Amino acid sequence: MARRKKIYEGKAKILYEGPEPGTLVQYFKDDATAFNAEKRATIDGKGVLNNRLSEFFMRGLTQIGVPNHFIKRLNMREQLIRQVEIIPLEVIVRNFAAGSLSTRLGMAEGTALPRPIVEFCYKDDKLGDPLVSEEHITAFGWAQQQDLDDMVALALRVNDFLSGVMMAVGIKLVDFKIEIGRVWDNDFQRLIVADEISPDSCRLWDIETGQKLDKDVFRRDLGSLSDAYTEVARRLGVLPSNVTHATKPTLIN
Ligand code: TMP
Repeated sequence: MARRKKIYEGKAKILYEGPEPGTLVQYFKDDATAFNAEKRATIDGKGVLNNRLSEFFMRGLTQIGVPNHFIKRLNMREQLIRQVEIIPLEVIVRNFAAGSLSTRLGMAEGTALPRPIVEFCYKDDKLGDPLVSEEHITAFGWAQQQDLDDMVALALRVNDFLSGVMMAVGIKLVDFKIEIGRVWDNDFQRLIVADEISPDSCRLWDIETGQKLDKDVFRRDLGSLSDAYTEVARRLGVLPSNVTHATKPTLIN
């Protein structure tokens, strides 16, 4: 049997050629890395959870008209996606100070920001994905000014959606990262949300306790990453085991 063609292997996912032109199969691995892959581990079941969670968020975005690459889930670890030309930028949206913003500006983690702040990092592992300005992006041709405006608008819509969804289950969306790709409809280019949306690429804190429910649990050795991701999936109702089974018949009057 012919093996399918691997298009790209990243730290947490593999992309295979899809069944139709313009599609890919995205496979979620159990691998976790941090600090530009200096720290690595395999977390049993992480890929399965992120496949489900990314599906859940992308489907929600589709429902509110935010274009994205998700087509359908194929199995526990794989989803069919639209092939895009990835723009080599990580688009970060922050609602509260944390992580590299806190380090860079000396701001206590958890400080509410005056408004959502959008940042761009240039995707280059050898350079450690450095923060870049819009000037760098347009001068070096990574994206045009119009693309940047569209990317900021997309990122802020994703922020509104994700903040609301998480708030509804008692979780604060501190920040997140998305990647955006180009697709072509004849001669017209459109930008769509690509890659993944999962606790690997967000900071999620329990509203009551402040408990971290995202990849910082792994980065900072705070406990079980799979427990944290399972809790997020459970609250959002995306665990197959979330189906409740009555233990005994209930009398209805
Ligand atoms: P930062 O505070 O480390 O810059 O991270 C900001 C957000 O981006 C946070 O939600 C984690 C996410 N992120 C990624 O998804 N991939 C990365 O490589 C890094 C450094 C951060």
